[in-house]
Amino acid sequence: MNILIAGDIVGGPGRLAFAAVAGRMKQAGQVDFVIGNAENAAGGRGITMPLAEALFAAGADALTLGDHVWDQREIVKALDREPRLVRPANYAPTCPGRGWSTFETPLGKVTVMSLQGRTFMPPSDCPFRAADAILQRGSADLGKIIVVDMHAEATSEKIAMGRYLDGRVSVVVGTHTHVQTADDAILPKGTAYLTDLGMTGPKDSVLGRDVGAVLKKFLTGMPQQFEVATGDVRFEGLLVTVDEKTGFATKVKRIQEKIS
Ligand SMILES: [Fe+2]
Ligand SMILES: [Fe+2]
Repeated sequence: MNILIAGDIVGGPGRLAFAAVAGRMKQAGQVDFVIGNAENAAGGRGITMPLAEALFAAGADALTLGDHVWDQREIVKALDREPRLVRPANYAPTCPGRGWSTFETPLGKVTVMSLQGRTFMPPSDCPFRAADAILQRGSADLGKIIVVDMHAEATSEKIAMGRYLDGRVSVVVGTHTHVQTADDAILPKGTAYLTDLGMTGPKDSVLGRDVGAVLKKFLTGMPQQFEVATGDVRFEGLLVTVDEKTGFATKVKRIQEKIS
């Protein structure tokens, strides 16, 4: 099974880039399952249901979220209804939505899990123990193919999660920092890994936002309106081939494609 995973999709430019690459690869039969991190899909802040529907129509089978999950109020209710939207699993048990979702596909069950780091991030429960609790359900429930989005700031925390889950899941990829790292690998026990997928959005920016406004904030310390930038729009992510019999990765390929 070929799985395409897109780094944080930022605003309109990110949604266009996602649709261009994911749509093309899916139509050409190059990918069987597509996941994108959509925490910045709505003008950089969270996601709305119409935008989620547009990303599903463009080829997404599941969308993961992150610390921006609550930015658009209307999504709060939708999270309980829409199994293709996955927010971090290590939030309070009373939070709306789900931390993992299992999908039936022609090549077997696929589980998508989201976790959030705790270093320089809003407080949350332990992501390592949250992963254990989900994986305890076993492969009869979850299937052999399990993809984990580790939404975190610290490189060490993401690598530690990759190593913790090595051999227990198919893929661990990092999101949130919006800059693709060059450490794509298959870990010793068979799990595909990349510290950060990068960003699907405007690269001529500071993490997708207009450079001038971000600089003004750093220089003055005053709150600024951060508009989504427009230049050098790219799709960034990872393409993973997983052996559906074992659940282990056999091939990883980083993707960076310039759209406009
Ligand atoms: Fe993000
Ligand atoms: Fe984030």
